[in-house]
Amino acid sequence: MGKLAITGGKPVRGKPFPAWPVYGPAEERALRDVLHSQNWGGFPFPNRYADSFGKKFAAMHTAKYCLAVANGTIAIEIALQAAGIRPGDEVIVPAYTWEGTVAPILRLNAIPVFVDVDPDTYCIDVKRIEEAISPRTRAILPVHLAMRFADMDAITRIARAHKLLVIEDCAHAHGGRWRSKGAGSMGDAGAFSFQSSKLLTAGEGGAILTSSLEIYERAQSYTNCGRASLTDRFHHRLIGFNYRISDFQAAILDAQLKLLPAQQKKRTANIEFFERRVAGLPSVALLPREPRITALAAYQYVFKFLPENGHGASRASFLGALEMEGIPCDGLFYEPVYRSPLFPADPETYPVLRWGRKKPIDFRRQYHCPNSERAAYEESVWLPHHLFLGSRKDTQDIADAVAKVCENLHELKGVRHPAIRLKTMNRADRPRVERRQY
Ligand SMILES: Cc1ncc(COP(=O)(O)O)c(C=O)c1O
Repeated sequence: MGKLAITGGKPVRGKPFPAWPVYGPAEERALRDVLHSQNWGGFPFPNRYADSFGKKFAAMHTAKYCLAVANGTIAIEIALQAAGIRPGDEVIVPAYTWEGTVAPILRLNAIPVFVDVDPDTYCIDVKRIEEAISPRTRAILPVHLAMRFADMDAITRIARAHKLLVIEDCAHAHGGRWRSKGAGSMGDAGAFSFQSSKLLTAGEGGAILTSSLEIYERAQSYTNCGRASLTDRFHHRLIGFNYRISDFQAAILDAQLKLLPAQQKKRTANIEFFERRVAGLPSVALLPREPRITALAAYQYVFKFLPENGHGASRASFLGALEMEGIPCDGLFYEPVYRSPLFPADPETYPVLRWGRKKPIDFRRQYHCPNSERAAYEESVWLPHHLFLGSRKDTQDIADAVAKVCENLHELKGVRHPAIRLKTMNRADRPRVERRQY
């Protein structure tokens, strides 16, 4: 019997962490209000709560306009389309992100061009963007991943120099600020997700932010079956769809938005405490601080397991051991999209992959992004944000568990355990196991 829980020792923590999402009487009141209104859907668009939420969400992120929509994937698609992405255009994206960042590009018959991530931020490596620009490039789609921002200073500079659009994927960045500017307000448009795990959630939902009236008008037409808004100045006529958010979702968001600043403050304070406790452990590394982030949005707290200092332990065994100490954690949270089983892009389904080419694009063969692959398969450790919404003692437990596993890595040699096997599974294989409650 060893010291680690996975080898038979006593776990650091037996108690579950606070559950996510949280709610109270304000959410119940808002839901009842929509129920009694007998106007539950998204029409007229934006409906009552969608309108009220949108105005507050835009202001919080220093943007002029916000459109709440059905989910985050569709928000990206609408933002790209409203900004003017056309079939055959190329859009530069980070290789290491959720597949939902990239799928909308293909849906518009445009082509994703993958760029590796910076190992210090896990966001797009701005030093590699210019070499990915071709005459067909129309946009950069940075993702503010996990708890960092893509370098928006460099991205806006490059975009200006090459006349490119910038669409920010802010699915992880609610309330985050870069040099005091809100996530989603620095590019031509920004897209958010309100899916269950996110920092602000209605179970499902999404939003587009922009300060361009023209993009806003076009986005609202795409969302609302092609209809013009009441203030339409541009007289666009286009084929739209129904991507509206229901007012039940918007009502929840409106109530949840009031909680976000206090949650953000608490998470940030607990994260700072955690970092002071674990800094200097030899087998892990923290992502460097970024002073240009003036408000931290930590959707997931990410740090690195250093396999070269791991006494032979793999990232999967580190994670399995941490989980058995009572700390929910993940490693294969994302894969480089070009390798992901959730991204089987083939030219039969997406003919744009062969337009004007002798051989169709084959993402799997064409790309190798070493920083993204190392992050996904060897190094990154992801802790869900709500672990840092609890007490100081909760955060102390997380730090103690990380330290305990680091100090006893030698025990992991040769250990086989279901918790370790689970940590080797990619997202495509997971639906059966992901509902586990911690
Ligand atoms: C980085 C990123 N982009 C886009 C999305 C898509 O959002 P949704 O799940 O609301 O469609 C997500 C959601 O998981 C995400 O994490």
